[in-house]
Amino acid sequence: MSSTAQATAAFQAPRGTRDVLPQESARWEALVALFATQVGRAGYGLVVTPMFEEIGVWERVGQDTDIVRKEMYDFFDKGGRHMALRPEGTASVVRAYVQHRPVTPFKAWYVAPNFRYEAPQAGRYRQHHQLGVEALGSNDPDLDVEVIDLAWGLYGALGLRRVRVLVNSMGDDTCRPPYRKLLLEYLERRADELCDEHRGAYAVNPLRVLDCKREPCRQATADAPWQLDHLCQPCQEHFERVREGLDEVGIPATIELRLVRGLDYYTRTTFEFAAEALESAQNAVGGGGRYDGLTEALGGPNTPGIGFGMGIERILLACDAEHAFAVPEELLDAFVVDATGGRVARDLTHELREAGLRVDRVFDDRSIKAGMKAAGRSGARFALVVGQHEVTKGVVGVKPLRERGEQVEVPRDALAAHLRRALAEAE
Ligand code: HAM
Repeated sequence: MSSTAQATAAFQAPRGTRDVLPQESARWEALVALFATQVGRAGYGLVVTPMFEEIGVWERVGQDTDIVRKEMYDFFDKGGRHMALRPEGTASVVRAYVQHRPVTPFKAWYVAPNFRYEAPQAGRYRQHHQLGVEALGSNDPDLDVEVIDLAWGLYGALGLRRVRVLVNSMGDDTCRPPYRKLLLEYLERRADELCDEHRGAYAVNPLRVLDCKREPCRQATADAPWQLDHLCQPCQEHFERVREGLDEVGIPATIELRLVRGLDYYTRTTFEFAAEALESAQNAVGGGGRYDGLTEALGGPNTPGIGFGMGIERILLACDAEHAFAVPEELLDAFVVDATGGRVARDLTHELREAGLRVDRVFDDRSIKAGMKAAGRSGARFALVVGQHEVTKGVVGVKPLRERGEQVEVPRDALAAHLRRALAEAE
């Protein structure tokens, strides 16, 4: 849209949301298709869950997080039920698992919008879109490696070279509570030194203080106790196996002690992918981890799980910054210019599309000259010209648009075959 049109438009997309139009959407489609192919190869199937759920689905798993406490788009429906738009996909997929009890391992992938009432800025939106996987039903550390490898493989396939893999362990029900107590005691001693936000509120979610980007918190926690030094034996062994596996498959993971993630359900392995080409506040192009207690929290049988989500918008921003993943324009094979009223164009486009060709046409009974202009703009390889002369002779004029060449007359019933041959030669 031109800037004048934008200035006069009565309505704009809501703050923190974006419209995605062609050609940007072609890249978006290609990204989703690539993701589907990659995770499909590893046995993950598409799962589609509702865009809204009873608010309890998220309250149950994230009571102490900003995403759930402050950022949810919640509403009462006309039946008086308290609902929320999905702020993230994991709890929804786990709710569906508990409801339908598919056989395990249950390996799901999704592409879906998420809604968080955040302060919008570049790379941070109120509606963002995630590609993600969730795998339920196995404790095997090899599954952690598989899931991290899938995400890593996607960044590689896109041509991103400056993505760092950060890993940590959050422990489990055995080692997290004593560690949390230790951290809380530490923070109590240093409370005066924390940033304004955390000084009075560190006790709500002490782990989040470790993740705070503000300098006072950074300094005050420089020698805080770390979960990784306080893992129980099974968690430690699990983490070692994950590290060894990442090493073996060639994923250069860095341990990040401060990586605690923004949702409460994590246990054991957590990980994040940081795009170095982006501003550090919005450089997470993906993240995830284990959530071995989530299924039970949502009323299901004890079922371990692990997954990740990656933001489509951020991935594409990182691709821009690294000049990667340029998707060729989706071009047309042919464009019909019909100066005889449009009926021939109607029938030709129908026939040629049925024959599998990508064909568009001019509408509104335009002159040959205006039609040829539109054909040029369309990016099509050939113009198919129909005037009175062609109709009388039962032919169509075929004119190359992207290379030099004369217009040739082709009998109408041989047109599809002619175009296919010509397109193959032009490849
Ligand atoms: P998350 O870290 O909150 O995790 O979000 C995953 C990814 O979504 C982020 O790394 C980022 O790329 C993108 N993202 C998040 N918020 C925004 C935003 N406001 N604007 C643009 N992009 C954003 C989760 O949502 C978990 N459900 C991931 C997971 C799956 N854990 C286990 N399984």
